[in-house]
Amino acid sequence: MAGALVTSNDAADSVPDWPLAYGKLIPPLVGGIRFEYAHRVIAGIVVILTFLLAIWLTFAKLAGRRAAKPLGWLALLLVLAQAGLGALRVEEIHPIVSATAHATLAQIFFMTLVGLSLYLSPWWQKDSSWLEDRKSPGLRLLATLTTLAILAQLILGAAFRHGAFGIDPHLAGAAVVTVMVVWAGRTAKSRFGGNADLRRATIFLHSFFGLQILLGFAAWYAVRVLATQSAQPTFLYVTLTVAHVLGGALTLAASVIFTLMTFRLIPGPAAEAQSVHSAESAGALR
Ligand code: HEM
Ligand code: HEM
Repeated sequence: MAGALVTSNDAADSVPDWPLAYGKLIPPLVGGIRFEYAHRVIAGIVVILTFLLAIWLTFAKLAGRRAAKPLGWLALLLVLAQAGLGALRVEEIHPIVSATAHATLAQIFFMTLVGLSLYLSPWWQKDSSWLEDRKSPGLRLLATLTTLAILAQLILGAAFRHGAFGIDPHLAGAAVVTVMVVWAGRTAKSRFGGNADLRRATIFLHSFFGLQILLGFAAWYAVRVLATQSAQPTFLYVTLTVAHVLGGALTLAASVIFTLMTFRLIPGPAAEAQSVHSAESAGALR
């Protein structure tokens, strides 16, 4: 959100240098500098917290969840790369590309932390029986494609927001995401409607997605109408566009959770083959 406030307030070029700001640790906090500088401070705190998380995961006892250890270091790598892209944007090196890549990596970093949180949660650890998905395409695949479609849509949104091209690809992306979200949701309902956890995850995904479509029209109004009425970004313009960026992140988070839940609850082909094999051996023993 702090990053989106920089973009929406047109404050990306308010501080010309990095890592210092106007050659100082604390620059004069006026105009766009307030947004850009606050974003850097918050980014610094996020880097420190991610570093602590990686260290904590390395030494924590994580029986059955050991994959979290490298994920902590991956998150740190991503956030450092994110700061690097932020610095490229400040130095105005290919600003459209660096700003779009910066907005995209922010979402990938966020996805990693959301996934890590679910993986470390008590829900992931609790004993639950497998759900059988015998139909094709499988729900795991549909959920994964939905998450990828939303990520692609965020990239198209960022490229549009930073001036790489017009809104058409982003509108086409919204149509694809709509199809995927509805398809995955209906499939989850028709095959596993009785599973309360999956139902809740689908409701979250549909709610954030619906809200995001509405915010999309609001952001469009902000860009097409509000932005032409005033030389400076108005409060309403900033609120609507930042809300749409935030809504994008929340829709992605809901989809990541939904997808990981399908992977946790529905066995993959390897696990299925193993369970058939053990059932056959048990039969032979009897
Ligand atoms: C934790 C690390 C960081 C995260 C998660 C992050 C995230 C973001 C996000 C989400 C945006 C909004 C993009 C958009 O609205 O399209 C943004 C914008 C921006 N960030 Fe960061 N950022 C981080 C670190 C940094 C750092 C260290 C710098 C400076 C060196 C920086 C400089 C900028 C600039 C200049 C913009 C505005 C880009 C534009 O409008 O063209 N960021 N950031
Ligand atoms: C699932 C559907 C959608 C998602 C996930 C989504 C996501 C996003 C994201 C994340 C951004 C900003 C990216 C960034 O810079 O970091 C964006 C920009 C934008 N989106 Fe969407 N969007 C969706 C649908 C729509 C729809 C239906 C419309 C219009 C009717 C729309 C209009 C816009 C506009 C106008 C911007 C640019 C805002 C600006 O320049 O400040 N979006 N979208």
